[in-house]
Amino acid sequence: MSCLARAAMAIFSSLLACLKRLKAAGCGLRCGGRGAAGRAAEDEAEDDSSSGLFYDLRSLQVATNFFSELNQLGHGGFGPVFKGLMPDGQEIAVKKLSQTSRQGMREFTNEVKLLLKIQHRNLVMLMGCCVEGQEKMLVYEYLSNRSLDCFLFAKEKSPLLDWMTRFRIITGVARGLLYLHEEAPERIIHRDIKASNILLDDQLNPKISDFGLARLFPGEDTHLNTMKVSGTYGYMAPEYAMRGYLSVKTDVFSYGVLVLEIVSGRKNHDGRLGAEKTDLLSYAWKLFQEGKSLDLVDSSLVKYNPDEAAMSIQLGLLCCQASYGDRPDMNSVHLMLSSDSFTLPRPGKPGIQGRTARWTTTSSSAFTKTNPSSTQTGGTKVSTGSSFAEEYSRNSISISSIDEGR
Ligand SMILES: Nc1ncnc2c1ncn2[C@@H]1O[C@H](COP(=O)(O)OP(=O)(O)OP(=O)(O)O)[C@@H](O)[C@H]1O
Ligand SMILES: [Mg+2]
Repeated sequence: MSCLARAAMAIFSSLLACLKRLKAAGCGLRCGGRGAAGRAAEDEAEDDSSSGLFYDLRSLQVATNFFSELNQLGHGGFGPVFKGLMPDGQEIAVKKLSQTSRQGMREFTNEVKLLLKIQHRNLVMLMGCCVEGQEKMLVYEYLSNRSLDCFLFAKEKSPLLDWMTRFRIITGVARGLLYLHEEAPERIIHRDIKASNILLDDQLNPKISDFGLARLFPGEDTHLNTMKVSGTYGYMAPEYAMRGYLSVKTDVFSYGVLVLEIVSGRKNHDGRLGAEKTDLLSYAWKLFQEGKSLDLVDSSLVKYNPDEAAMSIQLGLLCCQASYGDRPDMNSVHLMLSSDSFTLPRPGKPGIQGRTARWTTTSSSAFTKTNPSSTQTGGTKVSTGSSFAEEYSRNSISISSIDEGR
């Protein structure tokens, strides 16, 4: 081989090695690179197919301007969420997990790997994670319109949600839930379906966020100061609130409450509306019995399809039946929404009692595990009075007393 050919070969192989390194660091995809801890964890993990799973802390610090307050999108039960911009122009949302989890690196990594496989157009895409020192973070696609609650419950923004968009959100969320319950590589019970966990893309298409999050905190029993009672409790199925019994029908119940919120443009519990209307479920049931369901429709809607609206209300009530056996599964819900000829069964009284909890300051009890494939966490609840109810929310809790009020 001539000198020239040898030199050409050497250049070629060093180029190839360089390309391989770039690929391993995920640069083409993420321009982030993996940190040392990430690499160690990845080496430890069971298979190698997840190259590019890890973001290094430094790249996320740069992307979020060192997690500046200006970049903070919100703060939920698991910690704050920040908007970030990667060098390739990709916008991301970084959820800093502020809870301490007993879960080891391997378990955490394996759970994240599983969640990376859960992909659907109606689910927010998880892109990877960052594990360095005590820091654990999840990196998601960024959705420019943020969450449904920002539109639905804000006077100035709710008119942007016309009926077509609302109905598309109702069907999109049903589709995403059906995937989680029946089609995903592993069945996922969301446990925290609510308006703030429905994110909207630039065309206002819905994507469910935070699915499978509780998998990252198994066996925890000290989740203090992490619950927003309004929201979570109003969405909670009675058997889950009272006995911790968890099944796919728990999500169906929360979905039913969400549907009624989308149609009515109001929160499931609003004391400012007067006794008769305070509880959305009770009020919807009352109107339904009187044959006046459409009175529930958001008055900010200039026009809407009355058949779809009446059907959505009936469907919402069906999903909120007191006994979980009387609720449809997401497959039937999806069928009801997509077929013109489907006659919905008449709902009975929804599960009004027991789905909300009144907090006390001391005693508590942990929820029990009921479904092996579900995401489980016990929890301890300490209330600091009514202001506490407005603070945060999370999807794994325990309750100290059950009551009809809030
Ligand atoms: N991927 C994302 N893109 C854009 N905004 C997001 C994204 N993820 C979260 N957000 C915004 O950040 C806020 C806080 O989210 P977070 O999930 O932490 O809290 P939450 O949904 O209110 O409560 P929970 O912890 O029970 O889910 C959301 O309400 C949403 O507006
Ligand atoms: Mg959330």
